[in-house]
Amino acid sequence: MPGWLKDAVFYEIYPQSFYDSNGDGIGDLNGITEKLGEIRELGCNALWINPCYDSPFRDAGYDVRDYKKVAPRYGTNEDLERLFSRTHDAGIHVLLDLVPGHTSEEHRWFQESRRAEENEFSKRYIWTDGWLTGTPGHPYIAGESERPACYMLNFFKCQPALNYGFLHPIYPWQSAMDSPEALATREAIKDVMRFWLDRGCDGFRVDMADSLVKDDDEDKSGTCALWRDIRQMLDSEYPEAALVAEWSNPRLAIASAGFHMDFYLDHQGNGYNTLMRDYWGKEGDRSFFKSDGKGNIQRFLDDYLPKLEVSRGRGYISFISCNHDTRRPRYSLSERELKVAYTCLYTLPGVPFVYYGDEIGMRYQELKTKEGGYDRTGTRTPMQWKPGKNLGFSEADPEVLYLPVDPAQDAPTLEQAKADPDSLYHLVKKVIAIRHEYASLQADGSFTVLYAEKEKVPFVYARGEGEDRIIVAVNPSLSEASAQIPAGAGEMLFSVGEAAAENAEGSGKGAVLTLGPQSAVILRAAD
Ligand code: NOJ
Repeated sequence: MPGWLKDAVFYEIYPQSFYDSNGDGIGDLNGITEKLGEIRELGCNALWINPCYDSPFRDAGYDVRDYKKVAPRYGTNEDLERLFSRTHDAGIHVLLDLVPGHTSEEHRWFQESRRAEENEFSKRYIWTDGWLTGTPGHPYIAGESERPACYMLNFFKCQPALNYGFLHPIYPWQSAMDSPEALATREAIKDVMRFWLDRGCDGFRVDMADSLVKDDDEDKSGTCALWRDIRQMLDSEYPEAALVAEWSNPRLAIASAGFHMDFYLDHQGNGYNTLMRDYWGKEGDRSFFKSDGKGNIQRFLDDYLPKLEVSRGRGYISFISCNHDTRRPRYSLSERELKVAYTCLYTLPGVPFVYYGDEIGMRYQELKTKEGGYDRTGTRTPMQWKPGKNLGFSEADPEVLYLPVDPAQDAPTLEQAKADPDSLYHLVKKVIAIRHEYASLQADGSFTVLYAEKEKVPFVYARGEGEDRIIVAVNPSLSEASAQIPAGAGEMLFSVGEAAAENAEGSGKGAVLTLGPQSAVILRAAD
């Protein structure tokens, strides 16, 4: 396990929209390098950069045309290497995005693969043996290649599936996982990983990590075995490199496949979804952090605790404020609601991720789709640095920006947020700073629920043990709430809103915490 993950707090950057250093209207790598000081100032010590490789950008770069070349619109390979060395100087680790399940249809491998003449890449993708033979149970494309066969898709039409084999091949055109062609694909992806790790990258966020071996069983035993093999390669050649899965199933991703971290993604009905984004159902917004959400923290805990249990000692669950596929939390939560939510999110175990702009409460924008974004597009707008032209994102004419900046008069900016001690930005910064200060609050610190009653607030939990124990209590509701806890309350490290703790007489009898409306508190335990 890479030791640096224990105290890592990640910042996710969608490179298109972070900072445009050369005035062409789109963000770039040098722009990220220029703004490293801001990321450090917030307290983040690790980055995840969405795909920055050469691509036709039909899926915002998740359709890779050349894994080993930086997209010219973002800069050059040298710019990326400089970014690695500057981040390391600043004590920041960097994960790139690895897209192993598919390439762009414009990738050279696919261009070769689709040819009628057999060649080295003929089996690099999943092709059937007939021009009218589909791929049962999977989307496929017919009639597009000179080769008399159909090919399987992994996501969009522009993303043919790479061939890692089938768990139990049935048809003659299906490769086994240990066939030379499936192993060649696996080696090719290892080669891509080594290429960037050798240049200074610290690991990868792995796109659709569960999608590699086809017709896998329920426990994804084929795909998990494949990742264990890749993890072995990392352990022996790059022991400090980290892998985070886009999987959202720690039982498989962490305990079986060997990922160091797994994202807790916003999947309707799961525990994470009940915290901030439970607004799709008929009953209105039931999110726990909505002040009138009639939230029920048990819905979160029922899903989360088994996941935490299975990942303990093996890897980390990663809570996200949002990501490039998810609606920004500010879509439904007010700044005050977010303050309470973030206090909780960033004091939970595992390795947290801040999505760029969420620290200042950037809003979701209603926009037409861009580069295959569809309703994800509104979450991908440019970072808002300061008032004025393009909110400081770019010197280009507003019409040529990759996406428009938030047009609202009161669009939040980093500059204004920094000047206001009460801003969301300062809350995030403070909570992250406390997290760095107390090991109990970091990835490995234990998690004990102290008060969590169905349809009641507050939610109170302890992190760590003994003298180092930290207590966190949150009350998202509009009413005062109190809870009796079995631990005494000591020094108050941080609070939002009104919060008080009254210790019982004598020692070891616990305390009563009283939290005003929409409040949160971080305390040291006294006993
Ligand atoms: C998940 C990525 O997060 C998403 O943005 C992308 O469209 C798909 N995988 C396909 O690669």
